[in-house]
Amino acid sequence: MFISFEGIEGSGKSTQIELLESSLRDLGHHVKKLREPGTTLLGERIREIFLEETDEIIDPITEAFLLYASRKHLDQNMLRKNLDKGCIVIADRYADATLAYQCYGKGLNIDFIDYIHKESKLLTPDLTFYMDISAKKSKERISGREMDRMEVEPLEFFEKVREGYLEIAEKSPDRVVCLDANKGIEELESEIFNKTIEKLNAALE
Ligand code: TMP
Repeated sequence: MFISFEGIEGSGKSTQIELLESSLRDLGHHVKKLREPGTTLLGERIREIFLEETDEIIDPITEAFLLYASRKHLDQNMLRKNLDKGCIVIADRYADATLAYQCYGKGLNIDFIDYIHKESKLLTPDLTFYMDISAKKSKERISGREMDRMEVEPLEFFEKVREGYLEIAEKSPDRVVCLDANKGIEELESEIFNKTIEKLNAALE
């Protein structure tokens, strides 16, 4: 099973990924964690380029090509191999992030991304947890830490990204679980765990 986590900066994805990974391992599942962009050697190099602050203008189309280069490579070298071995793969972000950040956030054409995605023959996660917080809360949570090229974007950008995620969740209710990320860590942990078990059981039926 392929699970992804999505959300704007400071939504608590990483904490919940760790918790889910550990609960699934306790049940005897093999779990592989991925992050995007990144994970593979090539992907981690792309991640550095992607997040590095620069005075050069980086168009959202340039971002999309970098992200899809990393994504295709990840698919070929890690994702499918682990799924084929029967692992539960948990991805810290996947293709929804490109729709939310590059399309809703920066105005890139959604049809164009849908086209690249389809032509790259990539998978869609079986289950996606979208951790929803306001852009204002996100900014508060990340203030004080060193910020990367994306994190320095203004509040309005993150408001658009959030709107994008909410629309994606609304369009795919069977796949995307929209969580109120203002809730406590334990409450979120059990919602995520229960939903995952439900999906795993449904896959076995
Ligand atoms: P993070 O996952 O460690 O928060 O950093 C990844 C950053 O890259 C984050 O700001 C979201 C951004 N991003 C995109 O803009 N588009 C994408 O498709 C992905 C995967 C990430």
